[in-house]
Amino acid sequence: MLTQNLPEYWESLYQGKKDTWDLGKVNPVLTEFFKNPLCPKKGRVLVPGAGRGWDAVAWAQRGHETVAVDFAQSAVSVLSAQAEKNPKLSVLNIDLFEMIPKSTEPFDIIYECGCFSAVHPGRRDEYFEVWDKMLRPGGLVIAVFHPLIKTTSLEGPPHPTSEGELMARLDSVLELEERIVPKKSVPERAGKEEIWLLRKEKR
Ligand SMILES: C[S@@+](CC[C@H](N)C(=O)[O-])C[C@H]1O[C@@H](n2cnc3c(N)ncnc32)[C@H](O)[C@@H]1O
Repeated sequence: MLTQNLPEYWESLYQGKKDTWDLGKVNPVLTEFFKNPLCPKKGRVLVPGAGRGWDAVAWAQRGHETVAVDFAQSAVSVLSAQAEKNPKLSVLNIDLFEMIPKSTEPFDIIYECGCFSAVHPGRRDEYFEVWDKMLRPGGLVIAVFHPLIKTTSLEGPPHPTSEGELMARLDSVLELEERIVPKKSVPERAGKEEIWLLRKEKR
C-alpha cells in the first residue's frame, strides 16, 4: 500500500494533479515575512519537503545559500531546473529522514512550510529530531504551521496540528521566540496558519 512515507505516494498526487498545496507562486506569507525585521538577513537555509520550490527559490533569490529537499520525482525535476537558473539553490533528492548533517556546514535556518503537515503524525518527534540535527546551535526554524486549529483529529495529509500539541512537543527541543499571525494568507488558509520562530539552544 502507498503511504505518505514513500515517494511514490507523493508522486501519484503530483501526476494525478492532486497537488492542491501548490500555490503556483511564492507563498505570500513568506513574502510578507521577508519584510519583517525578525527575518534573518543572512544564513544558509534548508527547505525540507520543498515541492516545486517556489519558496526555496525565493530564499535563494534573497541571497541565501538554499538547499531544497524532496523525494518525489516531479518535484525534484522542477527543483533541478530552478537550481540551474538560481546559483544559490541546490537540490537534494532524498528522504529527509535520511539526511546526514555535515558537521562543518550545519544550517542557520530551516524553513518549514507544508512538510510538517505532510509527515505522518506518528513521525513528528522524528521530524523534530531532523530539524535538531540539521540546525546549528543557535539556529532558527521558521515554521509556517498550517492547518493550525483546535483538533485531535489525525486526518490528512495535510495533518492538522494545534497550539497545545506544538507546545508539548517543542518544549524540550526548541524555544519558541515569536508567533506571527500573517496578514497575507491565501484565502483557504486564512485564520488557520501562523509563523512560529523556534530557536535551537546555543549550547
Ligand atoms: C504538501 S507538499 C508541500 C510542498 C511545499 N513545501 C509547498 O508548500 O508547496 C509536501 C512535500 O514534501 C515531500 N515529502 C514528504 N515526505 C518527504 C520525505 N520523507 N522526504 C522528502 N520529501 C518529502 C513531498 O514529496 C511533497 O513534495
